[in-house]
Amino acid sequence: MGLIPIFTGMKKVLVVYYTQTGQLREIAQSVVRPLLQSGNVEVTFHEILPVTPFPFPWPRDAFFGVFPETFLQTPVPLHPIPPKVLGQRYDLVLFFYQTWYLSPSIPANSFLQSAEGRCILKETRVVTINGSRNMWIIAQEKVKTMLKDAGARLVGNIALVDQAGNLISVITIVGWMFSGIKKKHWGVLPLPGVSQKDVEGASGFGAMILAALMAGNYDLLQPQIVEGGGVRIKPFLVLTDRTGNKLFAKWARLIVGHPNSRPMLLKLFNIYLFLAIWLISPIVYILHVITLPLKIKQISRDRNYFQGVA
Ligand SMILES: Cc1cc2nc3c(=O)[nH]c(=O)nc-3n(C[C@H](O)[C@H](O)[C@H](O)COP(=O)(O)O)c2cc1C
Repeated sequence: MGLIPIFTGMKKVLVVYYTQTGQLREIAQSVVRPLLQSGNVEVTFHEILPVTPFPFPWPRDAFFGVFPETFLQTPVPLHPIPPKVLGQRYDLVLFFYQTWYLSPSIPANSFLQSAEGRCILKETRVVTINGSRNMWIIAQEKVKTMLKDAGARLVGNIALVDQAGNLISVITIVGWMFSGIKKKHWGVLPLPGVSQKDVEGASGFGAMILAALMAGNYDLLQPQIVEGGGVRIKPFLVLTDRTGNKLFAKWARLIVGHPNSRPMLLKLFNIYLFLAIWLISPIVYILHVITLPLKIKQISRDRNYFQGVA
């Protein structure tokens, strides 16, 4: 692929992000700290802004209402990228995004599919940084496809997640999304989201990115990120993500295919999701643990693949 030449001297990095809670902005600030401190990198920030903002906190209906279009990756119009940002070539783009419904969020996918976004990404190296509850694996596959379509080259990926148990983080994150308040549920559950320690620790990945950027060589970047704990793969979450994608595809097509029944179908989807999380997933977890010895090879293959950027 004909990439833009490696410049000597000052490097240009574009930070693209969307955030409702401010979490991804904080992560972005932490990652770019070493770049800014180096004095060798000019960093430009671009916040993705949908023309019609998504609500935060989320009313219940709106939260479930965005499911079909999120999953089908239907883009929405975005505010134009300022000419000053658009009119430059970058040595590296840092793309910070979050998962919605096992897919890149609508603002994220809208940027990746927009003419302006594609213009920035074309023949440019990209590091993706996901900040989600814990399900980012297949969303990242979708981002990979959109980056490839845009002619970008993925050279690194970091996934920062809520470290609480799967079901605990469902309670705490959904509570955060519906209330807009980041608090310890019932006074005992952990704070929702990526921990402050992990947000601050993200500067360590920034230092790795800086070294690769200055050397103009990204070959060792992803192995270093993985070594530094930047991409942890949990086999049960891979299984849930894959299975969830298959089922979500059916639901999304059903809902958009029957616009007159949309409110009723969204209610049914809401019930399905509740049962899938609280009834089906614990059963699947037990089966997963029992059959684990039979899946060692597959798990190791998955780990190698999902920790990489291929
Ligand atoms: C509509 C919606 C759906 C979400 N679905 C998922 C999901 O499938 N997997 C996941 O790990 N996190 C999911 N999240 C949590 C987000 O990835 C993210 O952690 C949270 O929205 C933090 O907000 P911010 O990055 O916009 O500040 C969802 C959030 C929203 C609002």
